[in-house]
Amino acid sequence: MPLRRRVSPEERAAELSVNPVYGIGDLEICRYELPHGELPPGVAAQIVRDELMLDGNARLNLATFVTTWMEPDQRALIADTLDKNIVDRDEYPQTAEIERRCINILARLWNAPEDDGNAVGTSTTGSSEAAMLGGLALKHRWRARREAAGLPTDRPNLVMGANVQVCWEKFCRYFDVEPRLVPVEPRRHHLTAQPALAQCDERTIGVVAILGSTFDGSYEPVGDIATALDGLAASGGPDVPIHVDAASGGFVAPFLEPGLEWDFRLPRVASINASGHKYGHVPPGVGWALWRDEDSLPRDLVFSVDYLGGSDSTFSLNFSRPGAPVVAQYFNFLRLGHEGYERVQRVTRDVARFVADGVDALAPFELLSRAEHIPVFAFKLRDGVTNYTVYDVSRTLREHGWLVPAYHFPPELEDLHVLRIVVRNGFSRDLGELLLRHLRDAVAELEQQAAPRAKVDASFHH
Ligand SMILES: Cc1ncc(COP(=O)(O)O)c(C=O)c1O
Repeated sequence: MPLRRRVSPEERAAELSVNPVYGIGDLEICRYELPHGELPPGVAAQIVRDELMLDGNARLNLATFVTTWMEPDQRALIADTLDKNIVDRDEYPQTAEIERRCINILARLWNAPEDDGNAVGTSTTGSSEAAMLGGLALKHRWRARREAAGLPTDRPNLVMGANVQVCWEKFCRYFDVEPRLVPVEPRRHHLTAQPALAQCDERTIGVVAILGSTFDGSYEPVGDIATALDGLAASGGPDVPIHVDAASGGFVAPFLEPGLEWDFRLPRVASINASGHKYGHVPPGVGWALWRDEDSLPRDLVFSVDYLGGSDSTFSLNFSRPGAPVVAQYFNFLRLGHEGYERVQRVTRDVARFVADGVDALAPFELLSRAEHIPVFAFKLRDGVTNYTVYDVSRTLREHGWLVPAYHFPPELEDLHVLRIVVRNGFSRDLGELLLRHLRDAVAELEQQAAPRAKVDASFHH
């Protein structure tokens, strides 16, 4: 008689305290259908964690503009507030108050004309939603003006550089607006005043100017564009408002270039968006949309709801949204203050410039931007380098864990292939040195691989 009864593999694994994921060889994991039964939470979590190991390391992801490092206190605060739905204002009045404070803090930072605590704006899930809201407000205001003047309201258009982030093309397609994309040129990688002006007509709902172009980090000259549009209106042409897409720059320019007039100091700027989850230093999930004043936000876009207890107004695409990132934004405002933001942004940009200089010193590369504005720069291979491409460089860096995107520029510069590095808080000079070392190694490796091929090609030719 056996000393022990036969046990099932599950029991055996539990007995040995081995997680069933590793203890049961044939544990089936459902991938594309809901499993029939349950799993203990620890086992399910282990399965998910294990799969996620195959993702890239977020801190080494130099493609994203979004926060990947946060202080433990911020993390804890987010965990504490994960269950708060921002839309339940009546139930969570203090979260609503915190959102209102953030909007007012940003309105002051961006020099809104009134600072009476009643700034006009909303939190969003990110700059994309904020862009949709900004674009919708432009469209509705334009339509109201046209209707009042007895003019047709079909075929509205929006003027912007071909370097806009995809959210603006989405806005145009989703909300039936013609995108007027001004092509970029070899020495003009973003929108400038005269080409913008040339695209404007009576059906233009607005011009989008970007503070921190996604392609190379540069600021578009919002002031020049505003002056050109002032001139257009003064000469009897259409009166075209500006929306500033300050997804990244909205949290950088006020601290590092306080004298630069890009915001509500320019009367032509009707609205601004920024991502709290980029240089606002909040993890993914928060953006901001602000309007100059009540008149800039048409009332027909704001809905009043009374089924949450109390009556409240909402202007957003989604109804339910997490409150935690808004709370985390306020934490950062309190934690860093003006001086802290200034210091963090400056150090981050200094690191970006340090890495840009290091890249510039490497023979095959040429900088397209040098983190002059936001801590972002782009670079390309010099014209003579034909043995390998920026895509090869990106792939080789991946072998060291670095995620550096390679892509081509928008029309009319599609032949310009670049790499881009986004430096964020949490990327130290020390990591920058390691990145440069690996970039040097990557180049050496690619050149070595290319050399025999070049020799073979040459002998074949002879
Ligand atoms: C200039 C610009 N606008 C809008 C966006 C979209 O922002 P989000 O990812 O917050 O939706 C980005 C994202 O990189 C951006 O760089």
